[in-house]
Amino acid sequence: MIETNITAGTPAQAETVVRWLKKEWAGDPDAGGFYHNRSIIRQAARSGEMTCLYASRTIVGFSVFTLGQSRAKIDIFEIRPGYRGRGFGRYLAAHILRMLLSHGAARIEVECAPRSSEPFWRKLGFVDHEERPSGWGNPKLVLASQAA
Ligand SMILES: CC(C)(COP(=O)(O)OP(=O)(O)OC[C@H]1O[C@@H](n2cnc3c(N)ncnc32)[C@H](O)[C@@H]1OP(=O)(O)O)[C@@H](O)C(=O)NCCC(=O)NCCS
Repeated sequence: MIETNITAGTPAQAETVVRWLKKEWAGDPDAGGFYHNRSIIRQAARSGEMTCLYASRTIVGFSVFTLGQSRAKIDIFEIRPGYRGRGFGRYLAAHILRMLLSHGAARIEVECAPRSSEPFWRKLGFVDHEERPSGWGNPKLVLASQAA
C-alpha cells in the first residue's frame, strides 16, 4: 500500500504546490485552477493555515483553510491531477475536518469552486448553506459540527 502522510504546509511546500499549479494552468489556461491564488497559498503557509498530503514523497494534495471557532472555512482544496479518484480527497478532507472541529469550529463552510466539486463535498456530509450562492454562482455548503 502507498505510504501517505499529512503535514502542515511550509513555505517550501507552498512553492512546490505553486509550481504544479503553474504547470496545470499553463497546460489549460481556460480551466481556471488555483495558480492565481498563489499569494494566498504562500501566506497560508506562513500563517499555519495550509496542509499537504504526501503519497510516498510526492505532494498529491493540499488545502488552505481558515481556523475559526464559530465559522471555519475550507478556502482552497485540490488533489493533483493524476491522483484523483483514488480516495486521496476524502482522506485529506476528513483530516482537515477533524482538525478544524478539534479547534472548536461549530461549523465549516466551503464554496464549491469549481462547481464540479459539489458532489464530493455532499458525500462528506456538507449541506446547503443558508446564504445564497457566491457572486460567482458557486454553491456554498456547510457542515455543522454535530453532523461530522
Ligand atoms: C474534487 C476533488 C478534491 C476530489 O478528490 P478525489 O481524490 O478525486 O476524490 P476521492 O477519490 O477521495 O472521492 C471521494 C468520493 O467523492 C466522489 N467524487 C469525487 N469527485 C467527484 C465528482 N467530481 N463528482 C461526483 N463525485 C465525486 C467519489 O466518487 C468518491 O465517492 P465514494 O467515496 O462514494 O466512492 C478533486 O477532483 C480535485 O482536486 N478537483 C479539482 C479542484 C477542486 O474541485 N477542488 C475543490 C474546491 S472547493
